[in-house]
Amino acid sequence: MPFIPFDLEVIQSKWEQIAQFNLVESGVHPLTLEELLANGPLSIDELLATSINYPHVNGIPALRENIARLYPVAANSSVGIENVLVTVGASEANNIVMQTLMGPGDELLTQTPTYKQLWGLALNTGHTVKSFGLLSEAGWAVDIDELNKRLSSKTKIIAVCNPNNPTGYIMTEAEMDAVVAAAERVGAWILADEVYRGAERLREDETASFFGRYDKVLCLGSMSKAYGLPGLRIGWIVGPADTVEELWRRHEYTTVSTTMLSNKLAAHALSAEVRPRLIQRTRDYIRRGYPVLESWMEGHTGQFSYVPPQASAVAFIRYHMAVNSTELMETLCKEASVFVAAGDAFGMDYYLRVAFGQEKALLDEAFSRISKTIATVGS
Ligand SMILES: Cc1ncc(COP(=O)(O)O)c(C=O)c1O
Repeated sequence: MPFIPFDLEVIQSKWEQIAQFNLVESGVHPLTLEELLANGPLSIDELLATSINYPHVNGIPALRENIARLYPVAANSSVGIENVLVTVGASEANNIVMQTLMGPGDELLTQTPTYKQLWGLALNTGHTVKSFGLLSEAGWAVDIDELNKRLSSKTKIIAVCNPNNPTGYIMTEAEMDAVVAAAERVGAWILADEVYRGAERLREDETASFFGRYDKVLCLGSMSKAYGLPGLRIGWIVGPADTVEELWRRHEYTTVSTTMLSNKLAAHALSAEVRPRLIQRTRDYIRRGYPVLESWMEGHTGQFSYVPPQASAVAFIRYHMAVNSTELMETLCKEASVFVAAGDAFGMDYYLRVAFGQEKALLDEAFSRISKTIATVGS
């Protein structure tokens, strides 16, 4: 069985340090250490006095406590530090969930379009992947009929990304209920990647979590997107305590632990004093950047169309030109030095994913370069 590389990350490895304008990163412009330490519980002196030791293998208690507080306490479930495992980004979380849950013959049921890490992980370990769509003609609503059609007794995990990458779509309560009902019907796990929770563009309340809606739910979070701290390489899994223990055993094999400095900085970032400031900063970037994208789109109505994203710093844009999305992405890198993601990487050709969580001047220049280049690509 040939190894399937992770397309999106391969192109990022290749282009992100070369292209002058990076519109691939789906989080907002990252914070500096100085900005992060501007207020809150951790002082610079305390940081400097930190012994660079291994932290707790499953994450320092202060961090796990702050993560646990991000989840609703449902009638039949409370969230404590025993429900939390800290991982090297949501990437490690996805890896160890697949290692832990998927057995011989098990199937993954996931969305199209989506961030395709789980997809590749499943195929590379010999599992079958089935998919249900998000419907662009319905504003990226979940195709519930297709979800139910693809469901089988072999479905081990139903994976959802909510808010969705690359569309920024937020599921309705009815759609969340339909996913839970489908999982319950066959006893499948729900793996909810919620890394964009908090990065809402249009509303102040945070996207509802899947946690507590069903007993077999694992929720992923990360410092990378909604908090603007991708270089901390801190993510997490929240789930039933016994499953978290099993995941922890895989974490010991995979990375042993995250780092002490990152644990302390993430605990600080998620503290009651600092977290609201970071969420507001992310939303400010998204809400300032989006109108720049919107007005550029208005100038290209024949060439591009899109459903405005409800959350995240990316828009998934349909282009109306007869060129493959990977080719178009490479042309933009080479000729405009603007790096956007190809729809191919999310399972849909004729789309580009364009990030707008940057300063206006940078976006203006990048969009004007895209306009010039596509004028030469033709229709
Ligand atoms: C939906 C989604 N999940 C997980 C990840 C992995 O993020 P990280 O490992 O930085 O937490 C990404 C990164 O782009 C993502 O978009």
